[in-house]
Amino acid sequence: MQRERGTWTPNQTTLSKAHVVMNATASSGNLYRNGLGMIASENIVSPMVQKIVASDLHGRYAEGLPGKRYYQGCNDFDTIESLGIDLAQKVFNAPFANIQSISGTVSNIAALKALAKPGDKITAVSTADGGHISHARMGAVGLRDLDLSTYPWDEERMEPDVDGACALIREVEPKVALVGQSVFLFPTPLREIADAAHEVGASVMYDGAHVLGLIAGGCFQDPLREGADLMTGSSHKTFPGPQGGFLLSSSEDESFHRRLNTAIFPGVCSSYHLHHVAGKVVALAEFEEYGSAYASDIVANAQAFGSAMAAEGFDVLAESRNYTASHQVLTRHGDTDSGAGAKAAVLLEEAGIITNMNMLPGDTKAMTPSGLRLGVQELTRVGMGKLEMQEVARLYARVLLHQEDPNVVRKDVAQLKSNFQTIRYCFNEENASGYPF
Ligand SMILES: Cc1ncc(COP(=O)(O)O)c(C=O)c1O
Repeated sequence: MQRERGTWTPNQTTLSKAHVVMNATASSGNLYRNGLGMIASENIVSPMVQKIVASDLHGRYAEGLPGKRYYQGCNDFDTIESLGIDLAQKVFNAPFANIQSISGTVSNIAALKALAKPGDKITAVSTADGGHISHARMGAVGLRDLDLSTYPWDEERMEPDVDGACALIREVEPKVALVGQSVFLFPTPLREIADAAHEVGASVMYDGAHVLGLIAGGCFQDPLREGADLMTGSSHKTFPGPQGGFLLSSSEDESFHRRLNTAIFPGVCSSYHLHHVAGKVVALAEFEEYGSAYASDIVANAQAFGSAMAAEGFDVLAESRNYTASHQVLTRHGDTDSGAGAKAAVLLEEAGIITNMNMLPGDTKAMTPSGLRLGVQELTRVGMGKLEMQEVARLYARVLLHQEDPNVVRKDVAQLKSNFQTIRYCFNEENASGYPF
């Protein structure tokens, strides 16, 4: 017999578990509201995107493509996805766009499914040099059972050694030449690598997960015109949308487009999280309006932050190249493999500055690296500029160079952040909270 509505009293122990989640979610929101979020792969979303992500779409399915669905009820979503494909093609200047992927990793798995067969060869940047885990045997490359060779790395320029990479490609003759990294300070020397790859019949895959917003904003490099056949990426790092991914191609070949679409569905997704896809479409519309300003402000802030950190006395990598051409800055805090980066990240967290430890050239262990990878895309999104980058560098110096009590510094972090609570580069920015529940 069905129980009457409202007569079920939940067990208090069970209910308290849900309350633990509610409280921890609120507490996590407070951490970022009052602190400085500087993890290079993160961002916050606009109020319109926040609303869509919490909409009814979150529970719906739309397998297939606009106009060719396996389920009823998809007419409105057809409108959304069709608009999104058009916008993505425009924003990324790409003849082909698939906006269904639920993450950068899923985009990479789908791309490797479309481009290679098990046992094929692939070249990529090693994880020790900043390549992503999905480029490694432990990730998507291994999942597809590909035979991996990694490029030599130019530590001075912080990019693949271009001559060595081309020589490797000519020697190995891979099916896929994959480029792009998680530690991504400077554009990849793509034209030379793409020429070598095409010479041996390889496809060129560019993983732009981190730098997609900078690319779309015209502030980094233009992979689809520099020789990349396919570009993958996340929709939530420098591209300021909800968590998800993109697949973009310079190819006009419709059979290749079909291969890419089917690699996503039915290849690696059934539901592809419609609320996030719709959120991506709004983020694309916002990007069309504000994206180039956002991208150039991010790069200007990152360069200002790099030089401010150096002026405070930190060892900032790539000084000879003005520290960075992206949203990231790398700092070294002690000897190779000393774990100094890990210790610095913990102290900074006590002061309300959220970062991640990172391996730098020479480090061999991911859990005890010497460095930090710092991103300014979220601070830029709430309106911080070059002056604030100097203030932020000073806060780092107080914690890490002058050994001030992080709990004292935390108050000044919160004071600085209290003036940067609304989100910029989006519709309705005048009253847009960047930090909802
Ligand atoms: C280069 C690169 N590719 C792919 C990914 C994976 O992206 P996602 O977290 O969206 O799966 C990342 C994540 O940081 C990355 O750095």
